[in-house]
Amino acid sequence: MLPAVLIFSTLLTLVFGIPTISVKGSKFFTSDGNQFFVKGIAYQLVPEDPLIDGTQCTADANLMKTLGTNAIRVYHVDPTANHTPCMNAFSAAGIYVFIDLDTFTTAINQDKPEWNETQLQAFEKVMDAFHSFDNVAGFFIGNEVITTGAGSPAAPYVKAATRDLKSYRDSKGYRNIPVGYSAADIASLRPMLQNYLACGSDAEAAIDFFSLNAYEWCGASTYQTSGYAGLNSYVQNYSIPIFFSETGCNTAPPRTFTDQAAIFGPEMSPYWSGSIIYEWIQENNAYGLISYGAHVDPSSPNAPPDGWPRSGTPQPVQPDFDNLKSQWAAVKPSSVSASAYTPSNSAPACPASTAGTWVVDANAALPGAPNGAAKATGTSATSGSSASSTAKSSSASRTTASTGSISVFAMASTTTAAVVATTTSLGSRTFMPMALLLTVCWLAIGGTMPF
Ligand SMILES: *[C@@H]1O[C@H](CO)[C@@H](O)[C@H](O)[C@H]1NC(C)=O
Ligand SMILES: *[C@@H]1O[C@H](CO)[C@@H](O)[C@H](O)[C@H]1NC(C)=O
Repeated sequence: MLPAVLIFSTLLTLVFGIPTISVKGSKFFTSDGNQFFVKGIAYQLVPEDPLIDGTQCTADANLMKTLGTNAIRVYHVDPTANHTPCMNAFSAAGIYVFIDLDTFTTAINQDKPEWNETQLQAFEKVMDAFHSFDNVAGFFIGNEVITTGAGSPAAPYVKAATRDLKSYRDSKGYRNIPVGYSAADIASLRPMLQNYLACGSDAEAAIDFFSLNAYEWCGASTYQTSGYAGLNSYVQNYSIPIFFSETGCNTAPPRTFTDQAAIFGPEMSPYWSGSIIYEWIQENNAYGLISYGAHVDPSSPNAPPDGWPRSGTPQPVQPDFDNLKSQWAAVKPSSVSASAYTPSNSAPACPASTAGTWVVDANAALPGAPNGAAKATGTSATSGSSASSTAKSSSASRTTASTGSISVFAMASTTTAAVVATTTSLGSRTFMPMALLLTVCWLAIGGTMPF
């Protein structure tokens, strides 16, 4: 009898043995009391869902483990698929998973913001599908929803979505899985977006963590010259965890990832919880840490859409892969145990509305819950479906993405963010001319010039 019990408990430990992650103050902690710093990789091999092929996940997880990875970020999943083999493969390798709740069609759109029942139910289904896996580290309520001052009125919709998903999580008795937001790195929105999403007395509507897709550190840069010192100046009193949800500028190859020493170093690690490197698979955008073989002519028989194999044995892209491995092996972030840590920062003040830059009335009620089930803040009793249009987003990246590839979309948005970040860091505080932005997106997704 005893051996059977032992074997069973060993299996349980193997499958369910990873400590869960939660938020305390401005830090993440594992359930065994250690502070958690994200050493993550963006992982989206296929547009719909990269977490359904257990064999592939096992091969990738095992190689990621040698890199020192402890988390992946997955942008889109199909809640109807079976994720158990993949989630267990990553768990067995000690790797947590951050999951975006939205899809191409359900994401909040800054051009026509709404928070409707279709979106709510789709987000809930993703939460239903993943809440039981102990290695889910967090959910993203949105990715780069807001990229301009004109888009800032979408922020209350992001908060309404946060409120309703946290309320749903709690009403279902799910684990207290953190719900956060992944922001484009737009200088003119700093620090208003970061503070607005965390501000106010309604804790349920506040995000549990904030993160930034930032490509400011290119080549042999420094904490001061990269812009990281500026980012750091906004976070020292922040009340919730903050980390880089994408980083890894590739404009000066090979990538050396020297920014990791800063993020996990003495200036930043007291305030930041690590970073996610963009991205695992090699594609036309040249951000890959591995490839599954040589690029092939996309027009050849059975070729993948962009010519890059999307499954198989992962082979490191060198020297980038080893560079990242060395950086992560060397970092020693200053950390604290959960028991020794008493949070002292309170929620930030809600930022004042400023014409053209941040057009959100912090005192206005949030959009109501679409189904009326969740608690609505303020006095608004109207439906969240403020805009009932069925039109798709007009941005080039989204339009293409809805019929094409997620990685193409991710690349386009990444490029947009990088271009905007570069533009803003060059000193221009005006918005990028839309035509240029769209052109960059178009080129980024591999299109030919439409004019
Ligand atoms: C953080 O809070 C302290 C104490 O309230 C204040 O003196 C300081 O200016 C704040 N720093 C930032 C960057 O807001
Ligand atoms: C809900 O919002 C999404 C995203 O904006 C939109 O595509 C969809 O058409 C909306 N559905 C309804 C029923 O309004």
